[in-house]
Amino acid sequence: MELKGKVALITGAASGIGESTALLFAGEGARLFLTDIDTEKGEELTRKIEQKGGEVVFFKADTSKSEDSERSVAETLKRFGKLDIAINNAGIGGSQHPVGEYPVADWDKVIAVNLSGVFYGMRYQIPAMLNNGNGSIINVASILGSVGFANSAAYVAAKHGVVGLSKSAALEYSAKGIRVNSVGPAFIKTPLLKDLDKDLLSQLVNVHPIGRLGEPQEVAELLLWLASDRATFVTGSYYPIDGGYLAQ
Ligand SMILES: NC(=O)c1ccc[n+]([C@@H]2O[C@H](COP(=O)([O-])OP(=O)(O)OC[C@H]3O[C@@H](n4cnc5c(N)ncnc54)[C@H](O)[C@@H]3O)[C@@H](O)[C@H]2O)c1
Repeated sequence: MELKGKVALITGAASGIGESTALLFAGEGARLFLTDIDTEKGEELTRKIEQKGGEVVFFKADTSKSEDSERSVAETLKRFGKLDIAINNAGIGGSQHPVGEYPVADWDKVIAVNLSGVFYGMRYQIPAMLNNGNGSIINVASILGSVGFANSAAYVAAKHGVVGLSKSAALEYSAKGIRVNSVGPAFIKTPLLKDLDKDLLSQLVNVHPIGRLGEPQEVAELLLWLASDRATFVTGSYYPIDGGYLAQ
């Protein structure tokens, strides 16, 4: 029971990495405030966690809207009285084009969800955690937070931004008890990959030295460690979890 008594807010919790993290955290005794734009899948997950005896709330919130992030934190405090852990995980892949042809509307959308969404999250999570005197924030970036990837400029730029934003927040708040870190998964088997070209997807396996793509549960294990009191000296860091991708 690594997270017994802790209150954790997870964005983009209805699917993939967020869903696996919610299930793992529930099993470790966390009380969960789950947000997503997909109400049906979010409520389905909530029922599953409740059936296992977990304490959980689902709240529909779009990370690209600052008012939704503000409301998410306010509702967390109303329901649970505090906020200990925030996993800013919601993200989209965006369309695939070279920079010179990238649709401006697609760029704006990816930056709004994947980068501004993380800022909006922390903007309201941090004041709540300061009241608490402690907290752990983990922002889900990507390997593409540290290297490029052709035809995915908006995603790559947003994820690089998340890594920098996390480091800045860590400098500002670590001495006040709030640890801020980011993680960098390589390609993980979740619905996020559904729009990728099939040939590209099979080539991608070969660029992971471990010889396969990752599982969302494997990322959840890293998030658990960073969120827990086992990682009390860890802040301002970026943790790839990538089957060796970045070692090449
Ligand atoms: N799957 C991968 O290969 C991979 C690799 C590196 C990083 N990531 C990152 O991990 C995070 C989770 O991705 P995943 O692979 O689990 O994808 P996923 O598509 O399975 O889950 C993402 C969830 O975010 C939700 N979401 C989308 N837009 C939202 C918004 N505006 N507001 C709130 N919720 C929103 C979706 O409804 C979905 O439930 C993302 O930030 C993604 O960029 C994924």
